Amino acid sequence: MQTRNTLASDDARHAIEDAAWAPSVHNTRPWRFAVSGTRISLHADADRRSDVVDPAGRELLISCGAALYNLRLSLRMRGYGFLLRLLPVPGRPSLLAEIDVAPGAGPAGEELVREHAQIRRRRSHRGGFGPGEVPDEVFAALPYEDASLVRFGDVHEQDALAALSNAADRGTGPADDGTASAGAAVLLVTRDDTPAARLCAGQALQRLLLRAAEHGAAAAFHTQALQVPELRTVLRLQFCGGAHPQMMLRLGVAGGAEPRSVRRPVEDVISAE
Ligand SMILES: Cc1cc2nc3c(=O)[nH]c(=O)nc-3n(C[C@H](O)[C@H](O)[C@H](O)COP(=O)(O)O)c2cc1C
Repeated sequence: MQTRNTLASDDARHAIEDAAWAPSVHNTRPWRFAVSGTRISLHADADRRSDVVDPAGRELLISCGAALYNLRLSLRMRGYGFLLRLLPVPGRPSLLAEIDVAPGAGPAGEELVREHAQIRRRRSHRGGFGPGEVPDEVFAALPYEDASLVRFGDVHEQDALAALSNAADRGTGPADDGTASAGAAVLLVTRDDTPAARLCAGQALQRLLLRAAEHGAAAAFHTQALQVPELRTVLRLQFCGGAHPQMMLRLGVAGGAEPRSVRRPVEDVISAE
């Protein structure tokens, strides 16, 4: 077993490249990374937050959490272990997490290897799904830490979710095609609604999406209703047993290639430290 007590710059760069393949709200990619010795810091890029759809930065944090999950996976694939501290730290509001690389982790387990293989293949889905069922292994990706899934098998609940999505869309753009079209409607929820809980939600989201990709499935996002505080409260109380809804998704089997989205060059998301 190889042990390391340094972080090779090529490994850090590759892990950050993997991180940047995470999904993000409106593909804003609102993250920055700094490497200093054996530490990688994750920062929010607040200039990329939308005042209109995400004034509190909730979806920004979820996006950064998804990137953090990829970063962790990528480091483990390169034989690194790490100590992760989820922040925010008072006085440094953009600092979200620090990862101190630790020696002697050994090879990554099979499950992580399979997840890692999906990082650059995963795509968000738009539109309807084919008739294929999403296997149970996908839903088994959660609970993850404090995040869990609420599933909606009942057609009336799915109709109600679709109606809330459409209500949120009114006046802000084209009607959502809702959660009642093919696909399994889920809400990803957390016990708390703190910045750390939102980062956790992002990590759990990415774990779910990678697991879905592994099984030929994908997620379509329906986050509009969660962007309206009153509708988010209705969802929390009526559908989530008081847990905080962070993401609304449909999971399904798409069949056919998804369009590839673009990413910034890795140099644009690494700060000197
Ligand atoms: C927090 C968050 C919110 C999102 N909200 C929506 C949404 O409301 N509608 C949508 O079509 N896609 C949504 N997306 C997906 C992004 O648009 C997508 O990740 C981005 O365009 C990059 O494409 P890719 O995921 O295929 O790499 C969201 C993603 C995240 C992480």
